[in-house]
Amino acid sequence: MGTDAGAMASDSSLEHELEAMLEIEKFEPPAEFRERANWSDPAIYDEAAADPVAWWTARSKELLDWDIEPTEGLNDSDPPFYKWFEDGRINASAQCLDRHVAAGIGDRVAYHWRGEEGEERDVTYADLHRDVQRFANALKDLGVDKGDVVGIYLPMIPEVAVAMLACARIGAIHNVVFGGFSAESVRERMEFADAKALVTVDGARRKGKTAPIKEQVDEQMGSVDSLKTIVVVRATGIDVPMTDGRDVFYDEVCAAADPECPAEPMEAEHPLFILYTSGSTAKPKGILHTTGGYLTGAATTHRYVFDLKPETDVYWCAADVGWITGHTYIVYGPLANGATSVMWEGAPDYPHQGVWWENVERYKATILYAAPTAIRTFIKWGADIPAKFDLSSLRLLGSVGEPINPKAWLWYHKVIGGERCPIVDTWWQTETGGIMITPLPGITATKPGSATTPFPGVKAEVVDEKEGEPLAEGQGLLMLERPWPSMLRTLYKEDDRFIETYFSKFGKERYLVGDAARRDSDGYFWVIGRIDDVVNVSGHRLSTAEVESAIVAHESVAEAAVIGQTDEDTGQAICAFVTLRGGTEPSKDVEAGIREAVATRIGKFARPKRIVWADDLPKTRSGKIMRRLLRDIAEGRALGDVTTLRDPDVMAELEAKIAEESDDES
Ligand code: WTA
Repeated sequence: MGTDAGAMASDSSLEHELEAMLEIEKFEPPAEFRERANWSDPAIYDEAAADPVAWWTARSKELLDWDIEPTEGLNDSDPPFYKWFEDGRINASAQCLDRHVAAGIGDRVAYHWRGEEGEERDVTYADLHRDVQRFANALKDLGVDKGDVVGIYLPMIPEVAVAMLACARIGAIHNVVFGGFSAESVRERMEFADAKALVTVDGARRKGKTAPIKEQVDEQMGSVDSLKTIVVVRATGIDVPMTDGRDVFYDEVCAAADPECPAEPMEAEHPLFILYTSGSTAKPKGILHTTGGYLTGAATTHRYVFDLKPETDVYWCAADVGWITGHTYIVYGPLANGATSVMWEGAPDYPHQGVWWENVERYKATILYAAPTAIRTFIKWGADIPAKFDLSSLRLLGSVGEPINPKAWLWYHKVIGGERCPIVDTWWQTETGGIMITPLPGITATKPGSATTPFPGVKAEVVDEKEGEPLAEGQGLLMLERPWPSMLRTLYKEDDRFIETYFSKFGKERYLVGDAARRDSDGYFWVIGRIDDVVNVSGHRLSTAEVESAIVAHESVAEAAVIGQTDEDTGQAICAFVTLRGGTEPSKDVEAGIREAVATRIGKFARPKRIVWADDLPKTRSGKIMRRLLRDIAEGRALGDVTTLRDPDVMAELEAKIAEESDDES
């Protein structure tokens, strides 16, 4: 925040330096980095492109130890239902644990866990191996079978990884729900998937407060018929209500379980997990990933994008396990590669705004993977905060979740990376399972703001919206033009929606990403943002329809339209245009009630930042709300074409409202 004169002066000279650096077009990998990089020869791209299936198969055999090696790479006989390594057999939990223990590295730390209040636990591979076996047996004892769905609603504690791997060990399909989602969202995700068990926690800590998670879960879960068991991890020790015959404590069932649970080799295409994510409609999509292909993608990208040296690196992915980034780059990728990770329970500003940098210094982290929204927050807090810590252990930085603006990229590069660390800006999605467009840090010259080029074996194009013709340069739709091992296999129990969403625009062999992108004259990709009604708030994916349906559930609301508005801090922010029912006047109370409704229905992170009271909403003659016009108006742009509106006067009234709003602020 730079309150003293010295800090202010240094902030402004930093500002000048960053401004000057904006002129630099490309950043070559530093020579010392290149020399030691896992991959430094660009020939890898040609090698992969020459025969992508053979190339992925070779990676799979290089980084995984199959129980039965696959004889076939890709089965593409029924697109878009692709299958990879179909006749291979492998167990994800054994890949992440048993083989490392067998190789004699059981005492290597898998996670340096640090809790909010500074508590520490070093969890080794042998520890995880022991706990996962016990919990896997406990799940079996509770009646969980291969193919059953198990919900996981846990904070950032080591038990979350144990629970995921215990499911994988016995072939149960985990369905993790991010801890920031409300209990109501959890219920919905358990219902959609017919979950048989749910693993949750007594309470979750956030910035010194403890939320009574089990109690909240109880209020919702009674109506989920499929749910037979709730397992409760005692993380905070708060008192919790337990229902006889349904609820059990994690520590008790583990203690009672057999310590040995041999890992059963699974078919490569056996489902590993479902992860619900937001799409264009209010109903979340259950992205389904399977075992062999997903693990291949996770291990390969983790090893080569982050240039991982498992013996010496300390890797920190600062995402939450509840999102795909946590699945692939906190759990499966790092553990498959035998890496040592940092797992941080808390927020970036508790107990103080330097806690991330304290963590880097404390564990001598060498690789940091974070979201642009976090970086922008740190910029706001001031460069003097990280300057108080020793960040010299860092050698590589990563970015994920949303486009990173060049200024934030340069700040990250200079202030955190000390100008010596390559930055990998990684583009991918829940659906892709792993990183798809990214620099390779020992090969690719980076340009701030561009995710650069597709990972070897991946074929991406920017195409024109109408014909789907690839564009050598300029803006269009981003497409993935070839199957890859870690791609989603379907939407759980919704095959038709799977085809409709991703494979209907230009045929069943071309995956429609849902992002707009631009290619420059070097062929670099610049991802612009979503083309559908998905909003990205602080790297958290939300659907406008989901938020709208939460808002209209409020008794005073007649109608609502939600848009993502560009926001300096969070990338996009939720802005809601709300029409109240006759007889209700706008007030602070109604506003608070609407925010509360969204928090209860979805989660606090989805609450609208801005609510605009609208007597009417701009609609086409067929009654469709024109969100494009609302975006224009919210961001103060000149309005696009309004001639298709049923009632063009609506826009004039809204413009007057917005003008009033800014008068109030000044
Ligand atoms: C966006 C997160 C620009 C994009 C891994 C994508 C990005 C959506 C980047 C997926 C990036 C992710 N540059 N945009 N490096 N990474 N996105 O499923 O719009 O939570 O479609 O997966 O985030 O979000 P999801």
